[in-house]
Amino acid sequence: MTYLINQIGHLTLQTPELDKSLKDAQNILGMRVVSVSENRATLTSNTRRGEITYVLGSEPALIAVGVEAKDAAAVFRARERAEKFGVKIVSSTPTAPGASDSFTFICASGVPFEVHSPVPRDQPAEYFTPGVRPRRLDHVNLLVLDPIKTSYALEIICGLKLSDKTDDDGFMFLRGGDLFHHMIALVRGQPGIHHYSFEARDISDLCRVGDHLHQLGRPLVWGPGHHGANAQSYFTYHRDSDGCFVEYSFGMTRIDDDLGYRPQVWPANPEPGEEWLNLWGAPPPAMFANPSIPISKSYEVGEAA
Ligand SMILES: [Fe+2]
Repeated sequence: MTYLINQIGHLTLQTPELDKSLKDAQNILGMRVVSVSENRATLTSNTRRGEITYVLGSEPALIAVGVEAKDAAAVFRARERAEKFGVKIVSSTPTAPGASDSFTFICASGVPFEVHSPVPRDQPAEYFTPGVRPRRLDHVNLLVLDPIKTSYALEIICGLKLSDKTDDDGFMFLRGGDLFHHMIALVRGQPGIHHYSFEARDISDLCRVGDHLHQLGRPLVWGPGHHGANAQSYFTYHRDSDGCFVEYSFGMTRIDDDLGYRPQVWPANPEPGEEWLNLWGAPPPAMFANPSIPISKSYEVGEAA
């Protein structure tokens, strides 16, 4: 199967307090505002015209997870596959800023995925920010009822590949054409977004974000730590202003032998010495198992900002 998707795309989250989300993204995440109106704000941390859009709504919710196709032809091919596969297609209007083509389908657990053509890389490469500016939005972790079903749909429609999974199929990591270990992680649970993650520019940024949060009277919820499996990334997690977990991730493995690589299986309930979620030992807090933000009940994103 050929990769049609290169990397994670544009993420759309609903928030009841747009102003707070906007300040958080600027002052903690170090993102730059691309556009803002009364009811939506789009931000980026690099030259892409938009990585995240916050849309004003009644409660925190996931509106759509964008996956960025290699080009418009790849969007077309993915759509053909989606129609053949039989998933519900709910929109053909791009919400990813500046994307020429897209379609949005709903997976079996209700998560909307927007397959979109590349957003333009036309934003300033440098800017001032008080926050801990990352390199890019790098992955999204989703809770779904049946990770096998959702993984299968993403493999068939988007050409994503399985990088690792647990022995109970409750945790699956999927990579796209940029070959980083995962751009989407699926975990069995009540559907929602568990966390969105940014690739840190330097490992010391994980300390900086901890200090930054401390100055604002807010805690890290897990980490710094070292993820195992084949991702091998260093991490911190905190909550955004709506309670959604946000990860800073440094050093995720890039699978450089794509054709020869075989997914590995990790214990869902590791024995002592088999721990892989955090090689340094400290397990996640109990509340970490819950979805931080549910899926929006109605797919109404309107026009791209
Ligand atoms: Fe993650």
